[in-house]
Amino acid sequence: MANCQPTLCLSLSLLLLLLCSKPVNSQQPQANISLGSSLAAGASQDYWLSPSGDFAFGFQQVTGGGRGNSFLLAIWFNRIPQRTVVWSANRNELVPDGSTIKLTEDGNLILADPSGRPVWNPNSVGSGVSYGALLDTGNFVLADRNATVLWESFDQPTDTILPMQTLARGTELIAKYSRTNYSNGRFKLDFQTDGNLEFETTHYPQMRSNYPYYESATVTADNLSYNQSGSLFIASTNGTILGNVFDNRESRNDFYQRVTIDHDGVVRQYVHPKRNNMSRWPMEWTVSDSQPPNICTGIKGFIGNGACGFNSYCQMESGMFPRCNCPQGYVFMDPTDHSSGCVRNFAPQDCVVKDGNDDDGDQFDFVEMVNTDFPNGDYQFLNSVSEDMCREACLSDCLCDAVLFRVDGQCYKKRMPMSNGNVDPANGGKTLFKVRRQDSTSITNKKDHSHLNTNVGWFLLGGSIFVNLIFLLASCPWRKNPPNSIDGETLDRGALSSNLRRFTYREMETTTGGFKQVLGSGSSGVVYKGVIGDHSSKKLVAVKVLEKMHEMEGHDVREFTTEVTIIGETNHKNLARLVGFCDEGQHRLLVYEFMSNGSLADLLFRREVRPNWYTRTQIAYSIARGLAYLHEECITQIIHCDIKPQNILLDDSMTAKISDFGISKLMKANQTRTTTAIRGTKGYLAPEWFRNVPVTAKVDVHSFGILLLELVCCRKNFMMEVEKEEEMVLVDWAYDCYCQRKLHKLVEEDKEAMEDMKRVERFVKVGIWCIQEDPSLRPGMKKVVHMLEGAVLVSKPPDPSSFISSI
Ligand SMILES: *[C@@H]1O[C@H](CO)[C@@H](O)[C@H](O)[C@H]1NC(C)=O
Ligand SMILES: *[C@@H]1O[C@H](CO)[C@@H](O)[C@H](O)[C@H]1NC(C)=O
Ligand SMILES: *[C@@H]1O[C@H](CO)[C@@H](O)[C@H](O)[C@H]1NC(C)=O
Ligand SMILES: *[C@@H]1O[C@H](CO)[C@@H](O)[C@H](O)[C@H]1NC(C)=O
Ligand SMILES: *[C@@H]1O[C@H](CO)[C@@H](O)[C@H](O)[C@H]1NC(C)=O
Ligand SMILES: *[C@@H]1O[C@H](CO)[C@@H](O)[C@H](O)[C@H]1NC(C)=O
Ligand SMILES: *[C@@H]1O[C@H](CO)[C@@H](O)[C@H](O)[C@H]1NC(C)=O
Ligand SMILES: *[C@@H]1O[C@H](CO)[C@@H](O)[C@H](O)[C@H]1NC(C)=O
Ligand SMILES: *[C@@H]1O[C@H](CO)[C@@H](O)[C@H](O)[C@H]1NC(C)=O
Repeated sequence: MANCQPTLCLSLSLLLLLLCSKPVNSQQPQANISLGSSLAAGASQDYWLSPSGDFAFGFQQVTGGGRGNSFLLAIWFNRIPQRTVVWSANRNELVPDGSTIKLTEDGNLILADPSGRPVWNPNSVGSGVSYGALLDTGNFVLADRNATVLWESFDQPTDTILPMQTLARGTELIAKYSRTNYSNGRFKLDFQTDGNLEFETTHYPQMRSNYPYYESATVTADNLSYNQSGSLFIASTNGTILGNVFDNRESRNDFYQRVTIDHDGVVRQYVHPKRNNMSRWPMEWTVSDSQPPNICTGIKGFIGNGACGFNSYCQMESGMFPRCNCPQGYVFMDPTDHSSGCVRNFAPQDCVVKDGNDDDGDQFDFVEMVNTDFPNGDYQFLNSVSEDMCREACLSDCLCDAVLFRVDGQCYKKRMPMSNGNVDPANGGKTLFKVRRQDSTSITNKKDHSHLNTNVGWFLLGGSIFVNLIFLLASCPWRKNPPNSIDGETLDRGALSSNLRRFTYREMETTTGGFKQVLGSGSSGVVYKGVIGDHSSKKLVAVKVLEKMHEMEGHDVREFTTEVTIIGETNHKNLARLVGFCDEGQHRLLVYEFMSNGSLADLLFRREVRPNWYTRTQIAYSIARGLAYLHEECITQIIHCDIKPQNILLDDSMTAKISDFGISKLMKANQTRTTTAIRGTKGYLAPEWFRNVPVTAKVDVHSFGILLLELVCCRKNFMMEVEKEEEMVLVDWAYDCYCQRKLHKLVEEDKEAMEDMKRVERFVKVGIWCIQEDPSLRPGMKKVVHMLEGAVLVSKPPDPSSFISSI
């Protein structure tokens, strides 16, 4: 089985463990759990199922815990590979093998360790209980003979709220400590006794509330409800809705969903398809909404740390995930725990009274961190000084660990420990960290924090998206470069002469049987399956209905038709062929040949069995050649603008074809830029989309680079469900592995790839060249083809973001 995705291997092995050891008695859904029933923690993996089988109640083995204590009594989603825990009884006191959960004859629910010592016993209700049941909502209840519920797990939530669950005032959810550690963490969701909902930091390890970074301001509310249709809202007893936290639009019939306060303090609403037949959705948890928008800048308390530990700084990655980093010269106090804060990796400046000053400022230098601030570290302020004076003031002051300098002459001296560090354009200026010069003695020889550059780059990308998007929306005209002087008539003839068929809307309705079967939907419209031709020669097609958005972009009819004609003239075996189009009134449709083997996204991310290494290399070559053709061989250069696995289709012989030219941008061959609206898909977009710089064919090269790394590793660029934080962003991880000469980590478990490490290395190097922040450093697609094929030597790529961090 070719795959190289660590978490997948993990969940597969869990699954295998499960399959091999599932006892007979727990395979049947358990309607009522009678008095005297019990489960034991251990290899047998006993659990009780809800009637639908969606949820299970029992023991989950987790890592860590020390001295063999590794079982969590939990409720989890049982039909998905991740078996996501939604509730647990003993998160702060894991129990060992041989522990039991028993519903006693006298109606008590007791978790006991192997010696019989009770670890957890929730129901003070005592007598009256006549049975227990795990309901289809994921709620475990104890009820009396009349089915009146006496105790329910919904009343004692852990870190997750499920649909149909209502929290009363005074209920708290506490985040996990880390991705893999379930014990109490540093953030909580607090539905206060007065009805106000807050997300707060705690005075960890105490759970008392510290700083609220989200407030609903709904005093007088009675309930926090997650209703059937997926809204999380705050209401009063009489039903009046006082505030809405999340509003999910995915149907509960097709999706599992949950709201969780994650270990990073962000409260996220997640959805997960129930069945593998929704092409737009990967079979994993997808964030449908989250609060607060930027936790890195949202926490401002004076006591305690911010979203990250002391002396570390926080930045949002891909606009969604806060990541904690250490300044250059600093390392995590606990390397396995990125929330532990950072400490110096060098001897600090002497700060004692003595006669000579042998350890003065000239042993030290500064590391610059643009737009970074540690707002709580300031102890002295100098105004109207030059940067040199600011630096000098810090070098000559042994108390000073860093300075924030702004171009208007503001200089803030800072000292440790610094908290609430974050990177944000609104901070302005730069923080200069005082570090010992490399030639002077340092405590250890540990490698400097090599993430720095990458991270700053990521941040600038992530953090500036919003600002620039607004800028673009506000100040840039929608694209306006229609190839002129083509009148409708010549165009029609042109269209007909190029084998491109023009359909009426009515024909399209017939072709698709009334737009019934959805094949997928992308950024620019929904794609339906259709059939054209008469009885003798039927042909399957994919019909894309473009959304109205296109009209806003100033596409007049003529322009649309022109684009279509140009695309229709492309002819390459790695491009999905355009068969025809429809352009009638408001209706704009594109008809492509049908690809029977689906999209590359399905192939890479959704199948249990990953495509083998050979197939993946062939797909990489195909895409590169198709792009080279679009960029360099067409009369009119075509920039695709949305290269991603969803837009690569596979025909019945598994040949990869680039599809979806719906949002392509056509340019005359000599044109280097247009001011244009952002097109494309987050995650694959090149940074220049967000800056006021020319957008060229190099945006496709960037997207291709990310896709190439995904192909090598069979995983998505961004993945939450990973073992180690540094593996969350594939491009960062791949670059780190490359620098550390540990490329094998990327393709572990993939035997074929492991035996072809030369090619793996070549592909990764090409991928890194393609994702350079500076578009001019990225090779053209022709060159990429040659590099992939090994026809030209691939030199050592620079850090993808070195360009940005030197600004
Ligand atoms: C569970 O037990 C209660 C009380 O005995 C009974 O009313 C209910 O029908 C039982 N439920 C199922 C699904 O057997
Ligand atoms: C989880 O983290 C806490 C705090 O660092 C630690 O005390 C505990 O042992 C960890 N638990 C596990 C299972 O690793
Ligand atoms: C169940 O209902 C009956 C009739 O309403 C009542 O008499 C009885 O006390 C109830 N039993 C319990 C345990 O609540
Ligand atoms: C809302 O809260 C009130 C008072 O705590 C409670 O009586 C009521 O049942 C709750 N509503 C729902 C839908 O649970
Ligand atoms: C859930 O709540 C939303 C408003 O928050 C409301 O529009 C929707 O109708 C509710 N759904 C159900 C099934 O009550
Ligand atoms: C419901 O309760 C809220 C506050 O508790 C109050 O403002 C509102 O007027 C009530 N609405 C109705 C219809 O009673
Ligand atoms: C997926 O399959 C289920 C049943 O197998 C069906 O009810 C549902 O409509 C299907 N969804 C789509 C989008 O085809
Ligand atoms: C691709 O399609 C062909 C024909 O439809 C089929 O035989 C083959 O199994 C498919 N391959 C994959 C990997 O799905
Ligand atoms: C681009 O090409 C057109 C026609 O081929 C020509 O008129 C124009 O001057 C060229 N522009 C530049 C910047 O070279």
